[in-house]
Amino acid sequence: MIIIGESHLTLIGNYKQMKNVLVTGGAGFIGSNFTNHILSSREDVFIVNLDKLTYAGNLENLKESEHRRNYTFIKGDICNHELVDYIFSKHRINHVINFAAESHVDRSILGSEVFFQTNVIGTNVLLEASRRYEVERFVQISTDEVYGSLGAEGLFTERTPLSPNSPYASSKASADMMALAFQHTYGLPVVVTRCSNNYGPFQFPEKLIPLMIINALSNKKLPVYGDGLNVRDWIYVTDHNKAAELVWEKGKMGEIYNVGAKQEMTNIEIVKLILSYLNKSEDLIEFVKDRPGHDRRYAIDATKINTELGWKPLQKFEEAIAKTIDWYLANKLWWERVISGEYQEYYEIQYEK
Ligand code: NAD
Ligand code: TYD
Repeated sequence: MIIIGESHLTLIGNYKQMKNVLVTGGAGFIGSNFTNHILSSREDVFIVNLDKLTYAGNLENLKESEHRRNYTFIKGDICNHELVDYIFSKHRINHVINFAAESHVDRSILGSEVFFQTNVIGTNVLLEASRRYEVERFVQISTDEVYGSLGAEGLFTERTPLSPNSPYASSKASADMMALAFQHTYGLPVVVTRCSNNYGPFQFPEKLIPLMIINALSNKKLPVYGDGLNVRDWIYVTDHNKAAELVWEKGKMGEIYNVGAKQEMTNIEIVKLILSYLNKSEDLIEFVKDRPGHDRRYAIDATKINTELGWKPLQKFEEAIAKTIDWYLANKLWWERVISGEYQEYYEIQYEK
C-alpha cells in the first residue's frame, strides 16, 4: 500500500482508489462498532472519526482500532463548520457516514436544545461541506422513531408518513428531510437508513437493555415505565452495521432503507429475560411513572433492503441477547467507569420519585 503524505490519496494493491470516510459519532455505541467492523474487514477505507466525546462518546470502545494506520480520531463538534471544512480539505473526504447525534429520548424530554443543535444544525454543517467537496456518498443514519407510534397491528415501511413524537425523533426527522432535500435540490448523493432499536456491546447504560443488565448486576431496582407493554423491534448492532455498510456501498441515491430484524418484544419481556439469565429475582422490577408521550409500538418492514440489496439479519435474538449480557458481565470495568460520572446525576433526575 502507498500512502502519499497525509491526504490518503492512496493506491492499494489493485489500484482501486481509497475511500476517505468521515465517520461522525464514531466513539458512540453504533459508530464505534461500525468503525471496528470496517477497519477489521477492509483495506480500501481510511476512516476519520470526528466525535465531540459527549457523555456518550468513549474512546475505550475503539481500542482495537486506535493503532491502525488507516484510522485517525479527531475530537470535535459536527456543528463547527471551520473544523469540518478543514477535515474535508485535509483528509480529502469523499464519503460521509453520519452517526453523530444526541440519541436518548428521555434526555430529549428533559431538555431538547442540544438535540436540535447536534442532530439538525450539525447535519446541516456536514451536508453543506459534502456539497462543497462533492462527496461520492452521504449516509444519514436515522431511526424508525421518525415514523411515530404503531397500534397493535402494522409495520413501518419507507412510505409510512413521518410523525415523530419526541423531541429526539423530531430532530432526526428534520435531519432526514434536510438530507433528502439536499439530494433533490443539489444532487448530493444522499442515502438514509432508518433502523429499529439496537443492542450489543458498548451501548451506554441509559438505554433499556444495558440499564437493566447493570441495575440487576448491582441489585438495584429495574425501573419499567408505565405498564411495561410498550413494544420495540430489536436488532443486534452488527446486523445494523452490515446494513449501513451495504446501503453506503449499494444504496440508490435519494432512497430510504428501513432496517429491522423482526424481533418485537415488550419491555417487560426483555426485563424478565435479563433477570432470569442473571438468576435474579423479579422482585427487583419496579413499575415507575410513564415516559411523557411514550410511543407504544415500533415494528419495521425491512422488505426493501432485503429484496433490493440482499440484506438480512444474521443474529438470532436468543443468542445475541445472551452474548450481550455476557459482554456486560465480562466488561464490568468498562461500565463502572461509564456510570461513575455524569450518569449518576442524570439517573437521579430521570428516576426521581
Ligand atoms: P450514542 O449516543 O451512543 O453515540 C453518539 C455519539 O455521537 C457519541 O460518541 C457522541 O460523543 C457523538 N456526538 C454527539 N454530539 C456530537 C457532536 N455535536 N459532534 C460530534 N459528535 C457528537 O448513539 P448511538 O446509539 O450509537 O446512535 C448512533 C446513531 O444511530 C444516531 O444517529 C442515532 O439516532 C441512530 N440510531 C440509534 C439507534 C439505537 O438503538 N441506539 C437506533 C436507530 C438509529
Ligand atoms: P430506550 O432504550 O430508551 O429506547 P427508545 O425509547 O428510543 O425506543 O427505551 C426502550 C423502551 O424501554 C421504551 O419503551 C422505554 C422503555 N424504558 C423503560 O421502561 N425503563 C427505562 O429505564 C428505560 C431507559 C426505557
